[in-house]
Amino acid sequence: MYILGIESSCDETAAAVVQDGQTLLSNVIASQVDIHAKHGGVFPELASRAHVEVIHPVVEEALQTANITLEDIDVIAVTRGPGLVGSLLVGINYAKGLALAANKPLLGINHLEGHVYSLWLTQPFRPVVFPVVVLIVSGGHTELLLMRGHGDYQHLGGTIDDAAGEAFDKVGRLLELPFPGGPHIERAAQNGNPYAFNFPRAKRDDSYDFSFSGLKTAVMREVSVQPAQASKRQRGEEKRAQLRRDVSVNDVAASFQEAATSILAEKTTRAAQAYGATEIFLAGGVSANQLLRAKIRKETELPVRYPPLSLCTDNAAMIASAAYYRYQSGLASSLTFDALPSWYLNNDTYNV
Ligand code: KG4
Ligand code: ZN
Repeated sequence: MYILGIESSCDETAAAVVQDGQTLLSNVIASQVDIHAKHGGVFPELASRAHVEVIHPVVEEALQTANITLEDIDVIAVTRGPGLVGSLLVGINYAKGLALAANKPLLGINHLEGHVYSLWLTQPFRPVVFPVVVLIVSGGHTELLLMRGHGDYQHLGGTIDDAAGEAFDKVGRLLELPFPGGPHIERAAQNGNPYAFNFPRAKRDDSYDFSFSGLKTAVMREVSVQPAQASKRQRGEEKRAQLRRDVSVNDVAASFQEAATSILAEKTTRAAQAYGATEIFLAGGVSANQLLRAKIRKETELPVRYPPLSLCTDNAAMIASAAYYRYQSGLASSLTFDALPSWYLNNDTYNV
């Protein structure tokens, strides 16, 4: 079965063709990083406009690369949420038009479930023995889930403030690194001392919830010029922190990364043990981080899986893969669904 996936929830316009949920035939991603870098973050209005401009050629390229025509596609799948409403609507409306014109079933897929299914695209694929603990760490989400079967998710914990990727992006901004901060912090950290600063770690509580805002504030206190030291012009201009010139960006990046990944690794491995998981799955943009991967591997005897780097960040292949399993379990086609900008992921996700 051939599924065409379409993804436009944030700042990547993507289309992909996946065969039987696991075989990647094409994976086209048009990134808007250059557009948003100027603003230091994703600018929603610009994002939807850029999606409109590229979605058609991106889908065409995905079909061409897969060497398949729309006629031979069995199902079209599109991200329905969570994400930026304007961005989601571009993909949804395009997919509806395509499904209507080609007379194909259309499924609206949860973006977080998509991240989970990026693990089904790793090669060579090893069969999954449930339950597994899944940590989804992206720019907008931090979710710790117990996955008991296809589509069967128990929420164990999540962030109570900033998402993990958001913390990397905010600290990257403080350190005047390019957007998005995550990969640049990882690079800077390679030449830094992770123990130069003792930034706060996880609260040693029993919950599986995460908090990153205290860590971010601690980094800000360490690296920024205090208002009293800043010039009158800087004080009056805006509240944005100024980077102290005597601070080692590499050391701060390394120490921040050390603290953030320790928080994630400790709770993820503890949850896997407590819930009898057979494996730990990592997904989402931050799962590209090598220190996070290494820390989790070190703290558990369980096998740890993560997607190839190209499938950690947003893509449409993961949406097509998730759609394959949803289609198998009977999710009905619809041409009338709306965008769901804050769609959660649990057992009731598709009862909307
Ligand atoms: O999954 P994703 O592409 O988008 C969302 O669904 O949000 O994740 C993007 C996030 C950004 O915050 C980015 O800084 C972070 O993933 N990221 C990383 C790395 N690569 C991307 N964070 C830490 N280390 C990395 N190597
Ligand atoms: Zn994502």
